[in-house]
Amino acid sequence: MVIEVCVGSSCYLRGAPAVIRILESLITKYGLEEKVVLKGSFCMQQCTQGVTIRIDGAIHSGLSKEDASRLFHHIVLPSLEAAGGED
Ligand code: FES
Repeated sequence: MVIEVCVGSSCYLRGAPAVIRILESLITKYGLEEKVVLKGSFCMQQCTQGVTIRIDGAIHSGLSKEDASRLFHHIVLPSLEAAGGED
C-alpha cells in the first residue's frame, strides 16, 4: 500500500508535516513498515481543500491530524487486513 502526502506549499502550510508525523507513528506502532510506503507528493490540485493525501490512488483532502488518524484506522488497517495474511 502506498500513502502519499501532498507536500505542496499550500498543504505544507496547512499542516502536512503533522499529518506525516502521525502517519509515521501509526505505521511504526502497528509494525507496518514493510507493508506501507509513506511518501511525499507534489501538489494534487486540491489546494483549497486543506491537507491532501492519496491512499492507493484515492484522494482524501481537508485532513486534520485527527482525520489522518481516523483514515488510518478506517481505511488503511482494514484494507491491509483484507489483503490479509502474514505477509
Ligand atoms: S498543495 Fe496540496 S493539493 Fe496543492
